[in-house]
Order: sequence, then C-alpha cells, then structure tokens
Amino acid sequence: MSVPVLDAATLENLVAAAVAAPSIHNTQPWRFRLDPDDVTLEIRAVDRRGLRHIDPAARALHVSVGCALFNLRVAVAHFGWVPVARLLPRPEEPDLLATVPLSSTSVGPPTPLESLYDVLWQRHSSRFPFCERPLPTALLAELAGAARSEGVLLTHPGPVDTDRLLQLGREAERRTKADAGRAAESRRWVRAPDESALGIPPAALGRQDARERIPMRDFGAHRHPAVLISRPFEKRPSITVLSTGHDRRVDWLRAGQALERVLLVATARGVRASLLHQALEWPDLRERLVRVSGSRPAHAQMVIRLGYGPQGPPSPRRTARQVLDCDGLSSLRGSSGLPGSSGLPGSSGLPGSSRLP
Ligand SMILES: Cc1cc2nc3c(=O)[nH]c(=O)nc-3n(C[C@H](O)[C@H](O)[C@H](O)COP(=O)(O)O)c2cc1C
Repeated sequence: MSVPVLDAATLENLVAAAVAAPSIHNTQPWRFRLDPDDVTLEIRAVDRRGLRHIDPAARALHVSVGCALFNLRVAVAHFGWVPVARLLPRPEEPDLLATVPLSSTSVGPPTPLESLYDVLWQRHSSRFPFCERPLPTALLAELAGAARSEGVLLTHPGPVDTDRLLQLGREAERRTKADAGRAAESRRWVRAPDESALGIPPAALGRQDARERIPMRDFGAHRHPAVLISRPFEKRPSITVLSTGHDRRVDWLRAGQALERVLLVATARGVRASLLHQALEWPDLRERLVRVSGSRPAHAQMVIRLGYGPQGPPSPRRTARQVLDCDGLSSLRGSSGLPGSSGLPGSSGLPGSSRLP
C-alpha cells in the first residue's frame, strides 16, 4: 500500500465517516480538531447537545461518540493508517474523549476494519417490522466476536429473558411519556430536516408494534398513541444486549465502538437493526437488564433489535466543515486553513454525500 497523504479532502472524508455514526436522538454531540503538531485527530464532546433529562450522566453521549470513533477508525484504516485510538487521553480536558494519530502507516494485509468502510455509509436505523426469519447462529456468533474485539460482551437471550427485556422497555416507555421533562426533551429532537441537520425526521420514526410487545420508541412521547401508525411486528424478535464489566466513561466509549462494529457487521450481512435504549435511561430498569454472572457484575450499555426487513431512511448529518475546528488546517495541502473559507473542498465527491445538507 502507498503511503497515505493527509490532505484537506482526506481529512474531510475521515470526519464525514465519523459523523455518519448513530447518536442518541441524532444529537451528533461531537466536534473534531486536527492537532498539527502530533498529526492527531481529536474528538470532543459537545455538552450543550447532551440530553439533560434523558441522559443526565452523559452515558449515552459517550456511547454516541464511541460510535463515531469506531467509524473514524474504519476510515483511518481505509486510507492506510493504523486504526488506533487513545481514550480520555488528558484528564485535565474532560471534553476530549479520544485522539486518533494519523502517523503510523499500515503494513501487511488489510485489517478487518477496512472491509467495513463501504458499509458505514449504508447503515441506517430501521424502525419497521422485520420478517420472522431467525438470524443464523453463525451470524450471532460473528456479531458477538465483533463486540468482543472491542472488549464488550454481546449476549443473545432466550425467549424468556427476551420477554423480560421487552417488558422493561415497555415500562420505560410508559414512564418517559409520564415525565414532562423527558417527554418535552424527546419531542424537541423530532423535526423535519432543516439547516441544523440534527434530530430525527418524521420519515425515520418508523412504526409502533400493533401487538404492543416490542417497545419501539415513541420519540414524540404522545399521550394518545392512537395517532401513531401501528403494524404487527415480528413475533419472535432477535434481541441482543451489549454489556461491560465496569461502568466508567471509558467503558461507555468502548461500548459505543462495539455497538457500531456490531451494527456495521450486521449491515454487511444484510441484517437491519434498531436500538431499544429506553430501559437504560432509568437506573432501576437498567440494572435489571443484565443478570449478575458469577461474582462479576455486568452493566448493560445497549439493547439491539436485529432482523431482516426494510432499509431505514437516512437521517440528516452535519457536514464535515460544520464539525471541524479549523485552527490546525493551514498546514494541509488543498486547504487555505481559514474557517469558513471553503478551505475544505465541497463534499459532492464523497461517499454518502447525498446525506450531507
Ligand atoms: C446511545 C444511543 C441511543 C439510541 N436510542 C435509540 C432508541 O431508544 N430508539 C431508537 O429507535 N433509536 C435509538 N438510537 C438511534 C438514533 O436515533 C439514530 O442513530 C439517529 O437518529 C441517527 O439515525 P441513523 O441511525 O439512521 O443514522 C440511539 C442511538 C444511540 C447512539
């Protein structure tokens, strides 16, 4: 492989790949900066886009940024660098969640991450009914392996535990609708695509389960759910749970990377996914999502519904230019380095650029 060149177009592509990641309520709570001295990309949290009521500890924010970090690693591998990251590298800068060096060149055969590059532009949440076809055991093992490579456990409970998980999700949905602060916060992020390029467009909201079994999130937190469109969902949903041994910020970032890795491998195999995060937003319900195995406690980080069904519609994304701090850009070929000066080329040639406003 030839030595990768970090020019403005490559930088924009790296950041656009990261931004294509899922985030809670499509808040996209991240910013990027190139540190020209170390040739390192920094990912920082944007706290003002955190969900104060739904996610007061910012756990879901960290999981979201972990997803973006995984996409960034995939893109870094695609361009020929070694896809490594340092998590929470400077404790005195709590908003700096990770750094990714763009200095070491990959040698040897392609890494498994590179094969996920084309897929990351195609992944969308699908909140529609899936068919009854079960997931092959080998595929479930592959997804568990994908999570394990990020240091995270993915389990696929049997029918009894699945029922229990779904019941916890339904209880969380009921509570959220009754909680004025959370309901209002959720509603604020449902919006027709606008210049903010944030939030969930009505077309992506999907359907509710007419059997009232799978707790598909009602982002509008309607008091009268009859206004929502319902369809019968699959009778035997494939539900998986991501969990970690500890519950620190670093574990949340790892969980996010594992989540995105699982979602991309699933997408590559033609499997759709939607997330059922509601029970994680209530501490007592979250605790009940995982059973204590032996003496090692486990902490649930995500509930994922998987299956075969329709592709979900895309949700908007901010452009690379909107999320990249420009102070480190002047050293790059193809960039004037001036904020807002169009130093970065337009995104028309980028994969997935139709998603960018
Ligand atoms: C931490 C986290 C929590 C999420 N929770 C839910 C959820 O409870 N229900 C849901 O349908 N989608 C959930 N999502 C998916 C986001 O709504 C989705 O990623 C975002 O709207 C962007 O859409 P996309 O996934 O189609 O790109 C969650 C995503 C993350 C990262």
